[in-house]
Amino acid sequence: MGLGKPTHVVSKPKTIYPIITGLMPTKTTPSGIDPHQANPASKPCIMLIFGASGDLTKRLLMPALYNLACDGLLSENFAVLGAATSEMTDGEFRERMGGEENGIRKFHTRPAFDEGTWNQLESRLHYQVASFSELDDFTALRERVSLLDEQYQAGGNILFYFATAPKFFGMICENLHKAGFKSGPGWKRIIVEKPFGSDLQSALALDEELHTNWEENQIYRVDHYLGKETVQNLLAFRFSNGIFEPLWNKNNIDNIQFNVCEEVDVGDRGGYYDSSGVIRDMMQNHMFQMLAYLCMEPPSSFESDAIRNEKAKVLNSIRIYTPEEVGENFVRGQYGPSLNDDGTMAKPGYRQAKDVNPESKTETFAAGKLFIDNWRWEGVPIYLRSGKGLWKRGTEIVVEFKKAPASLFQGTPVSNLTSNRLIFQIQPYQGIELLIQAKVPGPTLTLEKVDMRFSYGDSFKASRYTGYEVMIYSCTHGDATLFSRSDLVAAAWKVAQPVMDHWKSAPAPEFPNYIRGTWGPISAAELLERDGRRWHEVVTRDVIERAPLFKGADPLLLNAVTKALYTATAAAGETIISKGDLGKEMYLICRGEIEVIDGTGRVVKTMRDGDFFGETALLMSTPRTAGVRAKTQCNFFVLNKADFARILHDHPQFLETMRTVAKERYDLAVCADDVLAP
Ligand code: BG6
Repeated sequence: MGLGKPTHVVSKPKTIYPIITGLMPTKTTPSGIDPHQANPASKPCIMLIFGASGDLTKRLLMPALYNLACDGLLSENFAVLGAATSEMTDGEFRERMGGEENGIRKFHTRPAFDEGTWNQLESRLHYQVASFSELDDFTALRERVSLLDEQYQAGGNILFYFATAPKFFGMICENLHKAGFKSGPGWKRIIVEKPFGSDLQSALALDEELHTNWEENQIYRVDHYLGKETVQNLLAFRFSNGIFEPLWNKNNIDNIQFNVCEEVDVGDRGGYYDSSGVIRDMMQNHMFQMLAYLCMEPPSSFESDAIRNEKAKVLNSIRIYTPEEVGENFVRGQYGPSLNDDGTMAKPGYRQAKDVNPESKTETFAAGKLFIDNWRWEGVPIYLRSGKGLWKRGTEIVVEFKKAPASLFQGTPVSNLTSNRLIFQIQPYQGIELLIQAKVPGPTLTLEKVDMRFSYGDSFKASRYTGYEVMIYSCTHGDATLFSRSDLVAAAWKVAQPVMDHWKSAPAPEFPNYIRGTWGPISAAELLERDGRRWHEVVTRDVIERAPLFKGADPLLLNAVTKALYTATAAAGETIISKGDLGKEMYLICRGEIEVIDGTGRVVKTMRDGDFFGETALLMSTPRTAGVRAKTQCNFFVLNKADFARILHDHPQFLETMRTVAKERYDLAVCADDVLAP
């Protein structure tokens, strides 16, 4: 549930309403509180959804309401009135929401579908056609809401949900006011979907429009990332565990990385996306919200404004860049198509997407470095990276601590200490991981990277929520903690605006500049290399197992490999290995194609995704016998020599595999003792 809910709700248990029963029979005590439920139901209300015929209602709002109902968290004094321009009867609207193919049965998020609960919810869905510009339609809506209010005993409470394009927000607000929706008993609250403005100026103008007729405390601006359990847990984690807060500052933290990688492309949303781009679509809102949670000062309580005040303070402390600084600290990219072996298009690039300008300069990827100029964070780089058409779906936050002093280890086999990293896995994996170093069992002092891990799935049995449940629930309780406030939105735009302005005026790089399915443009890797750092790619076992070399391998081996790997990228044409060099690394190709070149410059072999090279020089401790060049842009996982030797030593079956490979590839007989010699 939303943070702060327990104090907020439990401290005022005035009226407890009956709930729509879900899967579990709900027994209530004489006080009305279900003894099995930690939380009371949502407050009674009529939820009037504008834009109810659109995708959001079907894909997210209905599954969210259904989840609330299944968990016994939806008040029985609740009904939905959908409003949109499409002609539909109540029956047709219900059919559309509940449809076999394209409705709740497809979009629900629970392991099994519960007909009974859906039937109860479905009977509360109503619909009325309305044009957002016609006052008469709003008058008719008001009459209908009054009838529903009477029927469901909702106490005059109305939750208006604006699931429409932002250009209608102001118009709907005004017509609601003119039609007299604000009068009468009960509360009236508005949930506004993103995007909230398309830049600072339009966000301020939109605010002014909304505030003409409505108070700030009636406006709830959705950012669905705040509805994610793992995002809410950032605050719980920081402030309920005494061990971390004293370390949470520039003295102990080297840098922080926020990654929001999406494998998906823009789909059917090209029209919207082409005038938006990743800064507006992901960074200014979702990523800055996570940043605020991770970096804000402790609030004085979990009251909504106590938290939002701290978020505003930290967002207002982010350094605002000059155009030159944007050029130094931000890079952008756009994905191009991925190709089949025969050169035909496997998956379309951004410019081939529906409703996208074929010469579009819109960025689908951005990476940047920010600084928070306050006492806690001064000088700590905060890196952000997000894009579509990337190699995987994954939202992760990596907090990298400063390294321990190494002098103690002089004279031991330990040559390099690595830094501790605390990784918040927001999605699709949900958990927290702390990377530490441990002594490898044995008579000598050697270290290996290991992890301490908490996984949501192992500890909690909660169903996978859409994120919207807690938003709707909190709004009915008048709890705005998880919603953005006018000043927070403006603070975030102030940081994003110079980046957008600079990119509008400065020529875009040659787009597309990354192939779909890769880690993004090379410039993103270079941004960190300039600081002597690299992006921390969260590499999971299933990613490594995709490579034939590790398919079906022993979990202990996979674990050792995933911990030891680091990442590297190469631009097309770049030399990766020069003949004659001493072997220092083995490379696993994650994406891309390489060419092996003999002494005369002849290409003797090409290799691509899933293949590996560089192992022989490590096995034999001899200079490289051939050169390697990137044929296309490449992403690699890299194992350095020390880790490679250690893994071979600890996992004899891997050593056997390597020896077989050496024999098959180069007809080399590799003696185990040679490999394991220090
Ligand atoms: C939305 C963006 O706000 O968030 C989409 O408009 C993006 O472009 C989506 O795909 C990502 O949300 P999630 O929950 O899948 O990470």
